[in-house]
Amino acid sequence: MSELSGKTVIITGGARGLGAETAKQAVAAGANVLITDVLDEDGAATAAELGERARYRHHDVGSEQDWADVVAYAQAEFGAVHGLVNNAGISTGSFLADESVEHFRKVLDTNLTGVFIGMKTVVPALREAGGGSVVNISSAAGLMGLALTAGYGASKWGVRGLTKIGAVELGVDRIRVNSVHPGMTYTR
Ligand SMILES: NC(=O)c1ccc[n+]([C@@H]2O[C@H](COP(=O)([O-])OP(=O)(O)OC[C@H]3O[C@@H](n4cnc5c(N)ncnc54)[C@H](O)[C@@H]3O)[C@@H](O)[C@H]2O)c1
Repeated sequence: MSELSGKTVIITGGARGLGAETAKQAVAAGANVLITDVLDEDGAATAAELGERARYRHHDVGSEQDWADVVAYAQAEFGAVHGLVNNAGISTGSFLADESVEHFRKVLDTNLTGVFIGMKTVVPALREAGGGSVVNISSAAGLMGLALTAGYGASKWGVRGLTKIGAVELGVDRIRVNSVHPGMTYTR
């Protein structure tokens, strides 16, 4: 596979799980990859395993400053940014009536506001590169009503909606925006 040769992709939550596998596949397809996460030890180890076309950077997706730093770092290391995979996420496991408002807000902040800040921050870099691609990891819980997913499901429906808004606004800039909706996959 060589269709991503010369392209640089930022992958959030890439220290482990689906994000780490996404990074592995992107490197195998020829891309430069910047893995970001809050798990610094795992993130650095994952990037080291992937070799010289991978880097790791500490990044809380809820922080605007961290996002600005990540984009600047990717441009400094690899010259440009062509892709973003918004993969970082946290989940819930409570019934709606039992979920605390505090936890609901925390899940929305990471899973939805994090994706929004990411798109907002990366779009100027994608425009500079002449176009690109954003892939937002939603969930099957963003396609249907699943029990025990009040905050999580709401955030993933929100990611799906935000993706569609991005797609209609950014197509004119040659930027594609898609969401992916995985089913249950065993990860930590
Ligand atoms: N595994 C599944 O069954 C499944 C199904 C549907 C969707 N998803 C989605 O796939 C994505 C990856 O999930 P996973 O199963 O690999 O889980 P995981 O917990 O193994 O990986 C998620 C990563 O996101 C990171 N993260 C969490 N909060 C963060 C923050 N504020 N800033 C930066 N990084 C942060 C975590 O440290 C972790 O490395 C998530 O968005 C999840 O909702 C997973």
